[in-house]
Amino acid sequence: MEAILLVGGKGSRLRPVTEHTPKPMVPTAGVPFLAHQLSRARAAGVTHVALATSYLAEVFEPYFGDGSALGMRISYVHEREPLGTGGAIRNASKALTCGPDEPVLVFNGDILTGLDIRALVDGHRTAGAEVSLHLTRVEDPSAFGLVPTDATGRVLAFTEKPERPEEIVTDQVNAGCYVFRRAVIDTIADGRPVSVERETFPSLLAAGALLHGVVDQTYWLDLGRPAALIQASADLVRGVVASPALPGRAGESLVLPGAEVADGAKLSGGTVVGAGARIARDAVVDGTVVLDGARIGAGAQVRRSLIGAGARVGARTVLDGTVIGDRADVGADNELLDGVRVWCEAVLPAAAIRFSSNC
Ligand code: GTP
Repeated sequence: MEAILLVGGKGSRLRPVTEHTPKPMVPTAGVPFLAHQLSRARAAGVTHVALATSYLAEVFEPYFGDGSALGMRISYVHEREPLGTGGAIRNASKALTCGPDEPVLVFNGDILTGLDIRALVDGHRTAGAEVSLHLTRVEDPSAFGLVPTDATGRVLAFTEKPERPEEIVTDQVNAGCYVFRRAVIDTIADGRPVSVERETFPSLLAAGALLHGVVDQTYWLDLGRPAALIQASADLVRGVVASPALPGRAGESLVLPGAEVADGAKLSGGTVVGAGARIARDAVVDGTVVLDGARIGAGAQVRRSLIGAGARVGARTVLDGTVIGDRADVGADNELLDGVRVWCEAVLPAAAIRFSSNC
């Protein structure tokens, strides 16, 4: 089976994590997130993947090569100007070899899911659909594409990021994994930006095509925002969601070769410590991604955060729910909470910021 993976987005909601690294290449649980997706696709029977690249396209091929290390073939299809999700699917389909009636899997490159991919493809064949979509239910659907279906799974409408309360007619949302009949991809306009969510799907519906929605409530997380990316990494490390690409055993923490964790430091909650990173004595690091070469000072308390490559966190500093950019330097005795993002290479002096008054 062949698949297209969309990996060309700018990942602007994740900045500064995506300043130097495209979202699918950000390490999660010790390897680029894309490695988890590719290995899950391989396990489901995918043997050829076309990667639709655009933003920072040059970093993918040196890491994944021809795909043989993963037991698959990988083709790289670059967009000089981003073509949007639909345009990227159309452009990448030029690398496919399957016939017009064959199913082609399409994945957004920023979704972590335990979805049974084979079952989605089997359901697609049985339904005789033009496109099948994985749908998931969320508590607050307003930030997603709503996809109401009838009792047979037939898609009734698409409402991308509803703006008015009366538009919220379902809690079923587009989960970013599709099966297309190959010939349907060939109908998408070539060489111009197209949004599959705003243009392709609504126009297929208007033309009376059968779009089949499959609601599956297994693990699903959209890694578009920092908190979700950090959560996904922790869940992969702890084995909440399984990945053949996890570089070690599932557990409370994962320390990559070449990292140093001093006596008395405590790692928990699915923390991953990258190669060459150092955690000093008595530091507490919980549910956090520490990228390669980063340093956490003595007695620091770091929770639910992402510490960029080569960044430094000073002694006794408290971080909770933060992103520290690559090579940033956060001095000792700071307290940064709840969504703070420190830009790459920024320098914060010692004792510069506190949220609480207990000092
Ligand atoms: P934000 O800028 O934070 O919205 O992130 P994003 O750029 O990744 O956009 P979004 O989350 O909507 O994209 C969903 C998926 O489609 C991601 O896997 C993106 O990499 C991918 N994608 C979005 N736009 C393009 C594009 O123009 N070309 C390609 N090849 N992929 C794209």
